Amino acid sequence: MHLEIDADRLMAELDTLATFSEVEPPAVTRVVFSDTDLRARRYVKSLCSEAGLSIREDAVGNTFARWPGTQEALPAAATGSHIDAIPHAGRFDGTVGVLGGLEAIRALQRSGFRPRRSIELIVFTAEEPTRFGIGCLGSRMMSGSLEDTADQNLRDNEGRTLREFRNAAGFTASLFGVRLRQGHYSAFIELHIEQGPLLEREGLSIGLVSSIAAPASLRIWIDGEGGHAGAMLMPDRHDAFLAAAELALALETAVKATGVIDTVGTTGVCEVFPGAINSVPSRVRIEMDVRDVDVTRRNGVIAAVARASQEISHRRGVSIRTEMLNSDPPAQCAPELLDALSAACRKHSIGSQQMVSRAYHDSLFMARIAPVAMVFIPCRNGVSHRPDEFASKEAIAQGTLVLAEALAAVAV
Ligand code: GLV
Ligand code: MN
Ligand code: MN
Repeated sequence: MHLEIDADRLMAELDTLATFSEVEPPAVTRVVFSDTDLRARRYVKSLCSEAGLSIREDAVGNTFARWPGTQEALPAAATGSHIDAIPHAGRFDGTVGVLGGLEAIRALQRSGFRPRRSIELIVFTAEEPTRFGIGCLGSRMMSGSLEDTADQNLRDNEGRTLREFRNAAGFTASLFGVRLRQGHYSAFIELHIEQGPLLEREGLSIGLVSSIAAPASLRIWIDGEGGHAGAMLMPDRHDAFLAAAELALALETAVKATGVIDTVGTTGVCEVFPGAINSVPSRVRIEMDVRDVDVTRRNGVIAAVARASQEISHRRGVSIRTEMLNSDPPAQCAPELLDALSAACRKHSIGSQQMVSRAYHDSLFMARIAPVAMVFIPCRNGVSHRPDEFASKEAIAQGTLVLAEALAAVAV
């Protein structure tokens, strides 16, 4: 089998996909179920149809493009990623795994390869948490990891429900049909940009992901006492923002205390009420994201934040209420898929190394129903979730080639 990746075509398709955006290039914003998301989906589906793939969509908009194998009854091998993009993102996060996955299938078709198992490209709905506050919506539901109340409970900032959005986008079936059983796929392999600097620093073309860190997200409400910024005496204050600031620092302290580089914590949201320069903050909402590949260590950080929160609440005379938005277990990648990917790298003399994924991906949830692995390619300066996110044509072509070889190996 001789595989040739059509890198020029793939780059042109990535460029076209980037034009479906709510903001001026090079920035890309594509929020799930927006008009641009729906137009981008139509574009990707048209490319899949052109490649002779048959298309199915489920009730939450996950899209499956299938190249039938000679033994269609066998569980398929799958690849894919997402095309939604956070506000002012770049053009490669997720899209490389979708269009690279499609090009891997086309390269296999051109080579004359006939898979025994079907090969499916999956475009997952809403890997990004932008609209509904929760990441990996499509893969989470596919793996049965979201309660059936999601249709009503998941809402955007204005209170509109998932059901309203998906129905308006034409996805009207019951969400009960989204879940796939364990064993539905024989393998899932996701191609993605690294979103960090390690591959570039090491001069390596390919990272083989051995485990995927998982986030826990906390929403914390702090209620203190507001008042006049000039007249309210300092000893009398119960400033909700100062309590929030202490909590954010407590998170940093707890994360650093693990002494491990794989533990990370971020307070990325802080909303102050009433939000006036001459008013003592009476109420604050902060949101924290804590991640690790070791769930016990991550939960230890959350417990330390809870202890700090009790102490701060008592000392400052404020009330603190914590909502756990999600707390997902990390995933391990399948050794047999890592072997297939290593063999593909060796075959083409491509340097690779195993690494941890610190970002989350749909693979985190696919790991609950199938053996998974991920292929990382370098991105310039490790930059992602920014308009200047960049991966070279050569890097994308190599990642796609390794993916295609591994898909062939698992689909025979
Ligand atoms: C995904 O975008 C993440 O936040 O890891
Ligand atoms: Mn992302
Ligand atoms: Mn992504």
